[in-house]
Amino acid sequence: MKIGILISGRGSNMVALVEAVGSGEIPGSEVAVVISDKADAAGLAKAAERGVETLVIERNGRKREEHDAEIVAALNDRGVELVCLAGYMRLLSPLFVQAFPDRIINIHPSLLPAYPGLNVHERVIAAGEKTSGCTVHFVHEDLDAGPIILQREVPVFDGDTPETLSARILEQEHGTYVEAVKKILATKSNEQTERN
Ligand code: GAR
Repeated sequence: MKIGILISGRGSNMVALVEAVGSGEIPGSEVAVVISDKADAAGLAKAAERGVETLVIERNGRKREEHDAEIVAALNDRGVELVCLAGYMRLLSPLFVQAFPDRIINIHPSLLPAYPGLNVHERVIAAGEKTSGCTVHFVHEDLDAGPIILQREVPVFDGDTPETLSARILEQEHGTYVEAVKKILATKSNEQTERN
């Protein structure tokens, strides 16, 4: 399975996926490209160090559809079959979602459907939640919606700040994302077996 990963920043989830593919923990797969919409995304160097092709495709004041069409073309040129959003901080246009039906997944740092959107940890702490976590889900046209593949819970402690909570959740995100991709691969190979 050829995987394309989209990032906007640090790229720690991207690194977790690239390393799990490289070690064979995610079997029979290749990360074909890492694409960032930001030229200064720290994740770009991390991907390049690991031998993965990187591309910067900035929006540059274009319409969302035009920007997305360029990304879709880059993914198609490389034969990408599964698109993983890893800290990609843009809403995808219907054009993008329809180009990869049920083949785009995202990780979000809350227990969706609770707390979609931005400033998640601030809102979770302000609401006095005792539990938060992360969710990997299929991407549909609505923000942080789409069927859930996997979730992992993380406790919220008294005295947590957005930073401490975010770090505790991020530790769980990496393994959760790898497990979710393995789950998709297993489902696809079962479908293949049933078809044969
Ligand atoms: C992660 O916490 C991810 O869940 C979040 O951005 C961070 C990216 O970190 N994504 C979202 O909030 C998407 N709605 P990373 O660049 O180190 O993977």
